[in-house]
Amino acid sequence: MAGSKTDLPQNLIAQIRYLEDLFTVDTQKLKAISDHFVSELDKGLSVEGGSIPMNPTWVMAFPDGHETGTYLALDMGGTNLRVCEITLTDQKSEFDIIQSKYRMPEELKTTNNNEELWDYIADCLHQFVETHHGDCAKVDVLPLGFTFSYPATQNYIDEGILQRWTKGFDINGVEGKNVVPMLDAALAKRGVPIRVTALINDTTGTMIASAYTDTKMKIGCIFGTGCNAAYMEEVGQIPKLAQLNLPADTPMAINCEWGAFDNEHKVLPRTSYDVAIDRDSPRPGQQAFEKMIAGLYLGEIFRLVLVDLHDNEEVNIFKGQDIAILRKPYSLDSSFLSGVEEDPFENLQETYDTFAQKLNIVCTLPELELIRRLAELIGTRAARLSACGVAAICKKKNYKSCHVGADGSVFNKYPHFKARGAQALKEILDWPEKSNPKEEDPIEVLAAEDGSGVGAALIAALTLKRVKGGNLAGILHPEHFK
Ligand code: BGC
Repeated sequence: MAGSKTDLPQNLIAQIRYLEDLFTVDTQKLKAISDHFVSELDKGLSVEGGSIPMNPTWVMAFPDGHETGTYLALDMGGTNLRVCEITLTDQKSEFDIIQSKYRMPEELKTTNNNEELWDYIADCLHQFVETHHGDCAKVDVLPLGFTFSYPATQNYIDEGILQRWTKGFDINGVEGKNVVPMLDAALAKRGVPIRVTALINDTTGTMIASAYTDTKMKIGCIFGTGCNAAYMEEVGQIPKLAQLNLPADTPMAINCEWGAFDNEHKVLPRTSYDVAIDRDSPRPGQQAFEKMIAGLYLGEIFRLVLVDLHDNEEVNIFKGQDIAILRKPYSLDSSFLSGVEEDPFENLQETYDTFAQKLNIVCTLPELELIRRLAELIGTRAARLSACGVAAICKKKNYKSCHVGADGSVFNKYPHFKARGAQALKEILDWPEKSNPKEEDPIEVLAAEDGSGVGAALIAALTLKRVKGGNLAGILHPEHFK
């Protein structure tokens, strides 16, 4: 075959070996990482705290499938704002949904004036209500679950103090503040008849939405632009909530914010490229785990390696070519990497074309081979490291068998991510070989239900139900749930 590894020049073969060493995380290391992860999850729940925030969310039950009612849901994601109206019907575990998407203007993500963000969101909600309910002035107040997928400490379910921006957002004057009154104020200013009743993380929404239709679902994960997980804890296992004197077996969903795992760099096998990404990011020293795994960074890791291999005189890939486009930070996103891994042609024709068209780089066949291997290594490392987090929660909770609901662009679209993650889980948890390959794994990571739509509605419904039942724990405005 033209371009088989044997045809590679010696220096590229050596380089591929070097990259393999650098990016491969073997079973032993996976186990060490997940063991350390368990102790960090514990630390996050303690009074002293640790790197992983382990934020209580005031979601205090799984749904039973019999929730009903109509709710609005708003999801402030990285690329879009999504507004939904969800009706949980009388049929068990069924729902109807209408939704609209609005573009999230790039410049709003780093604006100096946070009011611009809230005003824009209020405008979108205004438009949604007018389209589906008519004149805002004549509509009764609608309850809204706000999926705000950033680390937020919640003393109440209807309040959330943003700890720090993640995923490339950097808007002035929001960190350390309660985001709910900011949105409420913008809504009031425009006369939009909406009240924020619950602030939700996408992982919590994902867990709850998935548990609505599948009672084996115990954990919700997002592998997308950012990465994170939520699971259900018992209050008795959360020392930092001891002062509330709640019964020890009270359930409490925890938004782990595990992107912050190993911020002190004790176990993760960081490369010089990971170090560079962190150094040049808006929040150096934060989100160490996320920066090795999440979609926002995969393309950037890949780009940094290629630039380095070009500049390294001993390797000098793309020799004599102008790599100006490739030098631009964050010019390659994770879909670029997916494209390379998905190239169906043995001569990597699609990758060749993409490099020529998008980067103005003409690749030799050996270079294409290296590019493909590098994409595989980065994608595989992300999937294997992600599995360490899932394994850690399962170990901590002693779950021998369960379902994990996962969502996000990397999970849904990145080639082989699921299979690579499943393989890593098997290695970490020492599962025996299956007698029948079609058999489920003891712990299966499955595509989740819509967390920021249905999940948000369910959380609003669950909260309403417990307020009605007289449980006001973690409710700042009980009147909003009437
Ligand atoms: C955020 C989390 C979120 C995750 C997935 C991270 O950057 O800090 O709150 O759940 O991305 O969207």
